[in-house]
Amino acid sequence: MRLDKFICKSTELTRTEAKKMLKSGEVRVNGEVAKNAAMQVHENNSITIDGQELTARGSRYYILHKVVDSICSNVDEVYPSVLNFIEVDKAFDLHIAGRLDADTTGLVLITDDGRWSHNVISPKKQCQKTYRVWLRSEIDDDKLADLITRFEKGLQLQGEDSLTRPAILARVAQENLVDETSYRSEVLLTITEGKYHQVKRMFAAVGNRVVGLHREQIGDIRLGDLAPGEWRELTEDEIAQFS
Ligand code: URA
Repeated sequence: MRLDKFICKSTELTRTEAKKMLKSGEVRVNGEVAKNAAMQVHENNSITIDGQELTARGSRYYILHKVVDSICSNVDEVYPSVLNFIEVDKAFDLHIAGRLDADTTGLVLITDDGRWSHNVISPKKQCQKTYRVWLRSEIDDDKLADLITRFEKGLQLQGEDSLTRPAILARVAQENLVDETSYRSEVLLTITEGKYHQVKRMFAAVGNRVVGLHREQIGDIRLGDLAPGEWRELTEDEIAQFS
């Protein structure tokens, strides 16, 4: 890890403050003054500031129930970043492991461990993500059987070189649909990749339209009863799945 990053991780200092410390010669690596912010260091090095030994803080892992009109980005844009919800020191040093659209709600994983988030996101790892999907058009039993097969085989999405990976489609709660609702069917979809707007594009490819989207589960990590806008630290077991 870069020396300036190590300093930020193990102190309250910002990257700019860490660089100033380095310039002023207050930082030593294994007893030698170190001024190069990009110098590579690891936990076995003795790193001191003003004689005080630094100990690397462990990585951080959180789950958030994302609300609509928030974005999975490290900067605020038209909508605020989801990182504003995580009330911890240096929240904007964290990153999001698997983005959701601004109008999608549900489970978001947040960390500062790049290797861990790679294991969540990489299509090669085939981690399952389950979405509750509300659709504009009705899906009768025959149509559902057809879609289950098509989603299992893979769909050709516009602009993509390969078919979508096998996905699992299941119906839920058809009896709740009354005339006033904006949707005519509610399904659960489990996918193992995260192409751009994947769920919306998959249903568009079969002639339907997503009117509501909510992520419920990633791997074995479930949103459970976490209220909208709430967050918590992940448990050791939850972290271990992607370590
Ligand atoms: N697929 C989408 O279309 N949108 C999301 O936010 C997540 C998956």
